[in-house]
Amino acid sequence: MPSAYIKTYGCQMNERDSEQVAAMFLAGGYKLVDDPKHADVVLINTCSVREKAELKALGKMGLLCAASVSRPWVVFGFMGCMSESRGKELFREIPRLDVVTGTHRFHRVFSLCDSLLRDRLNNPPVVPLRRGAHICEVQPDEQAHNFIRDHLPMRTSCSAFVSIMQGCEMRCSYCIVPSTRGVERSRPAADIIAEIRELVANGVKEVTLLGQIVNRYGKDEPPVNGRSSFVRLLEAVHEIDGLERIRFTSPHPIGFREDLVRAFSYLPKLCSHIHFPMQSGSDRILQLMRRPYKQAKYLALCDAMRNARPDLAITTDIIVGFPGETEEDYLLTKQAVERVQFDNAFIFQYSPRRGTPAAEMPNQICLREKEARNHDLLDTVNRIAIARNAALVGTRQTILVEGPSKTNPTRLQGRTSQNKPVIIEQGSARAGDLVPVLISESSGFTLYAGQTY
Ligand code: SAH
Ligand code: SF4
Ligand code: F3S
Repeated sequence: MPSAYIKTYGCQMNERDSEQVAAMFLAGGYKLVDDPKHADVVLINTCSVREKAELKALGKMGLLCAASVSRPWVVFGFMGCMSESRGKELFREIPRLDVVTGTHRFHRVFSLCDSLLRDRLNNPPVVPLRRGAHICEVQPDEQAHNFIRDHLPMRTSCSAFVSIMQGCEMRCSYCIVPSTRGVERSRPAADIIAEIRELVANGVKEVTLLGQIVNRYGKDEPPVNGRSSFVRLLEAVHEIDGLERIRFTSPHPIGFREDLVRAFSYLPKLCSHIHFPMQSGSDRILQLMRRPYKQAKYLALCDAMRNARPDLAITTDIIVGFPGETEEDYLLTKQAVERVQFDNAFIFQYSPRRGTPAAEMPNQICLREKEARNHDLLDTVNRIAIARNAALVGTRQTILVEGPSKTNPTRLQGRTSQNKPVIIEQGSARAGDLVPVLISESSGFTLYAGQTY
């Protein structure tokens, strides 16, 4: 039985695309392996959002290709955002690479790789290959969208990602995503609901609705009774029997209106967590970033959501060292972090991306300064995150059990509605169970609990 290895970098969109590709390899008679050294097809799903993400994928592929000398038939492929944005040029960097497929072409990965592998197994190369097949497929393909509905990944877990819209048209001045993921396209609500029903029938309890700006879902349709398409979709998903939890990511302050804030008050399946990218606490920097909101609006939305759902956990993305960011701008960001009391935050050092306006801006910040701001802000973020977790000790929470704990397989790991990891003793719970627990301890970022039933 041939085997495939898939490594995924980047965001949940990539994870979802990888799940889809993995499902196709399984359906095609392959097994999936965790060790690339034993795989006949080696795929890396790539991210371009920061330079580091690209370098990691290139480095890993380079090493894997170099290690394949004794197995010359192995098919190597890149998919995802770096493939979309760099295309053929990747063959120059890694000559042994066989296949490069863009974000609109993940439905082609299986057949391209499978036919190459069959060819090579039928006509085995006599010498180790120095040069791969160099097949490149990028650019939009309408089929990719329909495809989502036709080939559901097989479920091995109680929680699933569901793509509801793709692409991004915001053109934040630092971001490469609009060029790697294309224009905004929303899927029909009926398809999304049908997909979730099928997932639930296969044991899924929790779905995360995915989009680069998820609340712009169906933005061209007028609101009905003051409720946007996105809120109406949330309501329809909420109706699905057997589905216990709904999450979505990532929302954007633009188009984030009262109806979405209110949804937190009347949709109990909607989890008490929102990942709400802030990017900066300085209006001047937000404007340079072309983020179309002011800090005051961001803060007002956080307050309003916490009014609608008092235990709401808020996490965020922040960029430090954007071109022209002064010490004063940075301190405004730090103040905003203190003000919102985020449950956690991803802090990114600004990374210039090809073809984006910010890469050409004057006053680029030096690496040392970016690192200093990153470390300083991380201290603040961690201190707040640890305190917020400690405050949960003694509270009752319901956790969705995901499976054995990664660090200690004799225990189970689950997540609260706030998306916090909790470790519990085995007891009688199984993956997929919703279990009421009493939080007994916090070790900083992980919570521990005894079962309470
Ligand atoms: N669509 C989402 C974000 C997707 S990218 C949104 O706009 O909310 C994920 C995160 O990567 C962004 O929120 C941003 O904080 C970070 N990011 C994007 N481009 C970056 C760059 N050039 N340098 C550093 N961080 C970046
Ligand atoms: Fe990038 Fe901005 Fe679009 Fe998010 S909204 S994907 S940060 S351009
Ligand atoms: Fe990265 Fe592409 Fe997602 S650039 S963040 S994998 S959309």
